[in-house]
Amino acid sequence: MTRVLLPFPLQRPLADAIAPLLGARTGRLDWRHFPDGESLVAIEQDLRGSDVALVASLRNPDALALPLRFAGATAREFGARSVGLIAPYLAYMRQDKRFNPGEAVSAPVFARFLAESFDWLVTADPHLHRNPKLSALFRIPAHVVATASLVADWIRDNFPNAILIGPDSESGQWVSDIAHRAGVAFQILTKTRRGDRNVDVSLPSIDAARSRTPIIVDDIVSSGGTMIETLGHLRQLGLPPAVCIVIHPIFAQDAYAQLLAAGAERVVSTDSIPHPSNSISIASLLADTSAELFGNAPSR
Ligand code: R5P
Repeated sequence: MTRVLLPFPLQRPLADAIAPLLGARTGRLDWRHFPDGESLVAIEQDLRGSDVALVASLRNPDALALPLRFAGATAREFGARSVGLIAPYLAYMRQDKRFNPGEAVSAPVFARFLAESFDWLVTADPHLHRNPKLSALFRIPAHVVATASLVADWIRDNFPNAILIGPDSESGQWVSDIAHRAGVAFQILTKTRRGDRNVDVSLPSIDAARSRTPIIVDDIVSSGGTMIETLGHLRQLGLPPAVCIVIHPIFAQDAYAQLLAAGAERVVSTDSIPHPSNSISIASLLADTSAELFGNAPSR
């Protein structure tokens, strides 16, 4: 059976890396905007009998949501047997409860939206906090790629004398896992968020961090507020400049420039979202996990 990857424009390099590992070919998906802001999506026409996967990292989920739906539906119209989604970064998982009265709990609503559009989903390290399993949110097969082993390899190869710093309790799950795999120590800070860009952090034990390279690890950098506050705190404690590792480099607006200006020794990310800081490729992990689902998910 023919496997076809249809990448959204920024995702072409990742799709080209994944395709040969899946025995798939990379097909055509164009996306442009009309002057009024509406999207026009165009894909190749002959998909008869193919198993198709769209490749789209959901860095700008509001802008991508409808084009995803249009592309998925059009692939079916053109004869695709199944249509999956490889979304290395899965948006909206952080809003998994009503933090303030009246707020929408977006995570389950967005999950339902994607499940209406696709037969299966593969993503990397989604931000699962109060939803312990992705499969509990999705009624389609939704598989998770864990990047911990690749991040640990990178740390072991580059900074074997590191101490990993997790900026908040939510980061504890992946920081402890990566630290154990890399064979290095770790500490988890306590974080108080005072606003979208305003956070306070504190380190439980400074002694454990002395004479090691601090590496701050977080799953997402969005505004950069959490990483920047953590960097400043470590600097005040007299620790050397920290390396920052981020799994999903969202870097909203000028967050990357701000992070560099805040004194990060180096910023390293996975290629779940294309960015100049990408140093750790997760293509092979995405391919391995997608291979289990490509053409094997129950048809609708
Ligand atoms: C939150 O719990 C996440 O793990 C990240 O710490 C958070 O999304 C980072 O956001 P920002 O860069 O806006 O501080």
